[in-house]
Amino acid sequence: MVAQMMSLEKGNGYDVPAKLTGQVIICSIIAAFAGLMFGYDIGISGGVTSMDEFLKKFFPAVYVKKHMVHEDNYCKYDNQKLQLFTSSLYLAAIVASFFASHCCKRYGRKLTIQLASIFFIIGVVLNTTAVNLMMLIFGRLFLGAGVGFGNQAVPLFISEIAPSNKRGLLNVLFQFLITIGIFFANIVNYLSSKYIRSNGWRVSLGVAAIPSIFLALGSLIIVETPTSLIERGKNEEGLRALKKIRGMENVEKEYNHILRSTEMAKKIKTPFRNLFKRSSWPQLLCGTILQVFQQLTGINVVMFYAPVLFQTMGLGANASLLSTLITGSVNSLSTVVAIFGADYFGRRVLLIEGAIQMLAAQGVVGGILAAYLKATNMIPKFAAVIVLVMICVFVMGFAWSWGPLGWLVASEIYPLETRTAGFFFAVSTNMIFTFIVAQAFLSMLCTMKSAIFFMFASFVLVMGLFVVFLLPETKGIPIDEMNERVWKKHWLWKRCFDEKEDANTDSVN
Ligand code: BGC
Repeated sequence: MVAQMMSLEKGNGYDVPAKLTGQVIICSIIAAFAGLMFGYDIGISGGVTSMDEFLKKFFPAVYVKKHMVHEDNYCKYDNQKLQLFTSSLYLAAIVASFFASHCCKRYGRKLTIQLASIFFIIGVVLNTTAVNLMMLIFGRLFLGAGVGFGNQAVPLFISEIAPSNKRGLLNVLFQFLITIGIFFANIVNYLSSKYIRSNGWRVSLGVAAIPSIFLALGSLIIVETPTSLIERGKNEEGLRALKKIRGMENVEKEYNHILRSTEMAKKIKTPFRNLFKRSSWPQLLCGTILQVFQQLTGINVVMFYAPVLFQTMGLGANASLLSTLITGSVNSLSTVVAIFGADYFGRRVLLIEGAIQMLAAQGVVGGILAAYLKATNMIPKFAAVIVLVMICVFVMGFAWSWGPLGWLVASEIYPLETRTAGFFFAVSTNMIFTFIVAQAFLSMLCTMKSAIFFMFASFVLVMGLFVVFLLPETKGIPIDEMNERVWKKHWLWKRCFDEKEDANTDSVN
């Protein structure tokens, strides 16, 4: 296996020059701001839904229940509408990512990113000025459309402009900014609940205007990817863009390679149908299942509901929001490991290590809650501290593995002809499972109690085994050579490629 990996890395195709130019860095950072918006939306809802003012205005029933002394600890926040406030964003993102994949292919990655920023701005305005639940939910739907467009376009955008040996580093920037967004939201929530008596939630929701305006302005100056330009027949422009991002004139090899893969891609009339061809199964299965698994780690239970969870354990409102600052900073800092580790250790090592770490942490959290948190008591201080530490260990494990690599791997494994369609499956699957976790968690916590953490732990075990046996290494392989150098060499997936089927490709010829 190791020998196989090494021979893959040496490869025999072209290798993109390793030069990382200022253009590529700046464009990647600007685009990754869509990740910051995504992160902000993830991080803000948990804090806002634990604010009394907000609950009184939009969810009075939850407010009353929360303050009933005899209410079951595990069930205080169980309310479908409250969960819908959090999860509606992901519903919209699922639908939006479908349109975004077409937009990406037809009109380019750049325009798709610009549209994302416009949706974000509309969503922020509606949320900040909301006078009823309807406006609030509509605001979340627009934000969701922004997430759908942003998450569809940005990882692809970055993977296509990055030199292959720096693709991991640049792509993880997207995840890094997601975590910064979450952390930033945690800080804003903490400050606004502590210092702004009334309408703190409006401030929390409104601050998102800053990154969305930055994204809107920044997206005016980013380059379109050479691949997207050439794919749309703009070869001259594509060549110019390639020279610009590589910072040199001699880009012939890479240009010819892109040209070849776009020519192949153009023969495909129906990328979505092609995606179900046998030779696309490996990428489709791996790209999609990684997203399912990413959500089944239970990460968003922490991201959305940590303040609620900590209050459930008996911490005060401010202490709970403060605890999310701790998990938020652990999340961002640990992502830095993946920024460098993805191209150094490779994807598999990080994914396997992350799974082991998360499994252990979830086991301990489940065990402590089972032992100490009963229906109406308060958990002892030392046990609350251990839970907090273990949640940090869990977040750390996720942040340098499944968080960033779920997006990275899905954006780099498809050949051009099925790339946007395949990535659509990844984004929408992520959103579907985020939606399910967001919508179901509070009710599941109420019925399953601490056992819910054991359930997540068992998912983590399965996903670790999946990587060990079925996920090939993609580190350092040029994005347009994945089929030849990765999939066709894997012990299992190579069976999906046979010449007969290649000849039957759904093409105009
Ligand atoms: C996931 C999000 C998650 C975030 C946490 C992302 O990769 O897609 O669902 O909330 O990581 O950092």
